[in-house]
Amino acid sequence: MAILEVKNVGKRFGGLQALSDVNLSVAENSVHAIIGPNGAGKSTLLNCLVGKLIPDTGSVMFDGQSVLGRKPYEINQMGISRVFQTPEIFGDLTVMENMLIPCLAKRDGAFQLNGWSRVVGQQDMIDKAEEMLRDMHMIDKRHMHAAAMSRGDKRRLEIAMCLAQDPRLLLLDEPTAGMARADTNNTIDLLKQIKDERDITIAIIEHDMHVVFSLAERITVLAQGTPLVEDTPDRIKGHPKVREAYLGESQDAA
Ligand SMILES: Nc1ncnc2c1ncn2[C@@H]1O[C@H](COP(=O)(O)OP(=O)(O)OP(=O)(O)O)[C@@H](O)[C@H]1O
Ligand SMILES: [Mg+2]
Repeated sequence: MAILEVKNVGKRFGGLQALSDVNLSVAENSVHAIIGPNGAGKSTLLNCLVGKLIPDTGSVMFDGQSVLGRKPYEINQMGISRVFQTPEIFGDLTVMENMLIPCLAKRDGAFQLNGWSRVVGQQDMIDKAEEMLRDMHMIDKRHMHAAAMSRGDKRRLEIAMCLAQDPRLLLLDEPTAGMARADTNNTIDLLKQIKDERDITIAIIEHDMHVVFSLAERITVLAQGTPLVEDTPDRIKGHPKVREAYLGESQDAA
């Protein structure tokens, strides 16, 4: 059964048709990768799923309900959490303080600026944040300023912040971009662990094919704002159109 259904989505920026006729169906409890060259429209599509952008045409259904017209925090409360391409953590707050933000949002909906005073003394939220940090093997870093962490740790913190909201659908936009190979491999293991231990669906945008082929059960290839092909990893690897459009190889190149 599909937990996410995208139908005929189009999005234009001025003279640029960034997405056109995008159809995407993500099966519940699967890992679905979206790949494609720079500028293919991957992040734009993700932004349309989380209320950051409103598509010009089409529909986006999550678990049978439309996400269109809802505010990002409402979509979040429906069960969709996302890690954006540009890290969205607060560098001058500690790891623990960053973790408390989604815990608050999960409980209270839209995050209120006067929210901090309400965290004090609320042991349940502190427990929840600590549990997540333990799961992510980051508990020892809870008092560290987020800005001082490595790129891999910042990404892990973002994933932990998403998981604190108990999402049913986790959207990841290039979670391993700029990471050293060891950090990338740790992230792959972490995502496998999350998948095994939770009732969760993961949609991941990624350029690193090692990550894609280690995790994905289905792959959609976007090119110039339109899905070129959707298939299993094995079939995608050998697909001539994919090799030509994305991997930079012509059909005759072996
Ligand atoms: N807010 C915006 N205003 C105008 N143009 C935009 C905007 N956001 C994206 N674009 C353009 O839309 C196209 C698709 O961009 P998008 O960021 O979705 O690509 P992408 O597939 O995520 O690329 P990358 O792999 O480099 O992250 C690009 O040509 C980009 O310049
Ligand atoms: Mg992008």
